[in-house]
Amino acid sequence: MGYIELMDISKSYNKQSNVLNGIDLQIEEGEFFVLVGPSGSGKSTLLRMIAGLEEISGGTLKINEKVVNHLPPKDRNLSMVFQNYALYPHLTVEQNILFGLHAKKVDKQVQKKRLEETAKMMGLSELLNRKPRELSGGQRQRVALARAVVSEAPLCLMDEPLSNLDAKLRANMRIEIRRLQKKLGLTMVYVTHDQVEAMTMGDRIMVLNDGIIQQVGEPIELYNKPANLFVATFIGSPKMNLGKAKIKNDQLIIEDALTIPFEKMDVPESIQNRKLVIGLRAEHMPHGNETQQVQHVEIVNVEHLGNETLVSFEIGTELWTAKWLGQWLIQVGDRVPVHISVENMCFFDAETGDLIKAAAFTRKQEVVLR
Ligand SMILES: Nc1ncnc2c1ncn2[C@@H]1O[C@H](COP(=O)(O)OP(=O)(O)OP(=O)(O)O)[C@@H](O)[C@H]1O
Ligand SMILES: [Mg+2]
Repeated sequence: MGYIELMDISKSYNKQSNVLNGIDLQIEEGEFFVLVGPSGSGKSTLLRMIAGLEEISGGTLKINEKVVNHLPPKDRNLSMVFQNYALYPHLTVEQNILFGLHAKKVDKQVQKKRLEETAKMMGLSELLNRKPRELSGGQRQRVALARAVVSEAPLCLMDEPLSNLDAKLRANMRIEIRRLQKKLGLTMVYVTHDQVEAMTMGDRIMVLNDGIIQQVGEPIELYNKPANLFVATFIGSPKMNLGKAKIKNDQLIIEDALTIPFEKMDVPESIQNRKLVIGLRAEHMPHGNETQQVQHVEIVNVEHLGNETLVSFEIGTELWTAKWLGQWLIQVGDRVPVHISVENMCFFDAETGDLIKAAAFTRKQEVVLR
């Protein structure tokens, strides 16, 4: 049994259409659980329902084995960081941070100690006497974070808490939040629309689209075995390369532009007569050598990232990107050999978008790792 259990949860704001549908989910105690999805997919709504700030239209919500559908927020023993980090404008940073502890009449010495530690961690020590209007957006966001952190409630809900920070601070805060969550053994539900944040922070991730769960799993599982085309293209950067494909005789034909020799044994017979979409990660299309089967493609864009090079080329109407380690002196217009092989491909059903078969390399890697 999970620490938080959502059973067939749905939400409608207008009684006509649902913004969340059939959400079945268990979040374990001490888990860092990330909700990720595009804007408007229902992430904040779901989090606010767990917090008790939004009425639940259908289904059952349990926290710590107790049905809490109608329990007021203050009795749920949780802290929350809101997407718009509501601070009290007339209170100082220090008073804002300690507001909850003050209300709960926590010992003054304990308050002081937690304030000092948290302010230091969040880089707010110098700002404790300021009012929110005297802070930048990123600083306000850190005050809201600090307020949740000092409460040390066993369940912490965060809604895009790092969205206003610059890239360097965000990377630091990701690590701090993750360390703190592990140290205090908090159960964390963390909302973001940033798939990198989801991948780097979550023990498990749930991908939401249009109010429907697309997939729940560990980051690597989502990356290697995306349940459908939505997850395939949402998780990972650069995004997974896709192409319409069909099998003809002993060949795989992609976008009517690329023909790849194909051992029928490579894929189950059941998919051989279906309309397919194949997916290939950028790192699985290496620069080809003579011993490999290669395709010659014309480069239309090159991005030098320093430690790796992204090269793009057209396959039919699709623009594909390959990622090669190191620095390659390649120019737009060059024709280069690329190793494109069936064993690195994910196969999806073109009609439903569902995964039929993950790339073979994942299975090999699993064997090595275990
Ligand atoms: N109070 C409300 N009344 C009516 N519709 C609402 C209300 N709040 C949210 N919605 C709608 O519910 C859907 C989900 O909104 P929600 O805020 O949960 O999305 P989100 O995934 O958090 O998006 P974002 O990444 O932009 O914060 C949206 O279509 C939104 O317009
Ligand atoms: Mg939101």
